[in-house]
Amino acid sequence: MSELTGLRDDVYRRPLATALDRLGLGARWRCVDVGAGGGDVSVALAEMVGRDGRVYAVDSDPLARDEVARAAAAHAQVIALTQAGEDLSLPEQVDLAFCRFLLLHVHDPIVVVRQMASVVKPGAWVVAQEPITSAGRIDGLPMSMPEARHPDIGALLPALVRQAGLEVIDAWAEAPAGVGPGPVAQYLESLTGIDPGDEPVVLPPLVTVIGRRPAAGDGESSQ
Ligand SMILES: C[S@@+](CC[C@H](N)C(=O)[O-])C[C@H]1O[C@@H](n2cnc3c(N)ncnc32)[C@H](O)[C@@H]1O
Repeated sequence: MSELTGLRDDVYRRPLATALDRLGLGARWRCVDVGAGGGDVSVALAEMVGRDGRVYAVDSDPLARDEVARAAAAHAQVIALTQAGEDLSLPEQVDLAFCRFLLLHVHDPIVVVRQMASVVKPGAWVVAQEPITSAGRIDGLPMSMPEARHPDIGALLPALVRQAGLEVIDAWAEAPAGVGPGPVAQYLESLTGIDPGDEPVVLPPLVTVIGRRPAAGDGESSQ
């Protein structure tokens, strides 16, 4: 696992825990983690779904497969696949399609969200967690990640999820903040090369959207 993904897991672990808790994720769930990177989220999912569950850790970078294999060595239920999020192909439909810090990098985010919607069972979940990088602050001043294709994709996320044909069940934003030495300052330095010293930092808020694929019969009149 890279230093950066370890720190991200540390500073952004709270929105991840909130989202998974909100879903009621549990034993035997089938999940896909799209843009799995070093596999932090895949491992967290594997621990929650248990040995009888399954987590497909998908990334377009073949090197990620080795990283995930290392991170998930103790979890046989994690299956690492080299695939693009634009072209998902799984052996089964899943209960949860998840992505974090992915859509800001892809060419066309709606294509990926639609693919995620297409691999979940009717009535099942799509969860996306993406940042609004320009809403981060160092000593009160805006920061950004101009090298990302869509650095503020988080601000559009609820609309993207709805555009993909999903029902938006919940959506919110959370931002880690801090001052002085600690995980927030370390994470900022890893991300931007900037050491904030004793200046206050608010990291980019992560917008979480919980979407649900309509189930057969949803929307039918009860009369
Ligand atoms: C910033 S990392 C996020 C890793 C992980 N989701 C996390 O939150 O720690 C983004 C990952 O998305 C992958 N990626 C970028 N474009 C992709 C695409 N079109 N399809 C699948 N994976 C992609 C990259 O290879 C990288 O591993």
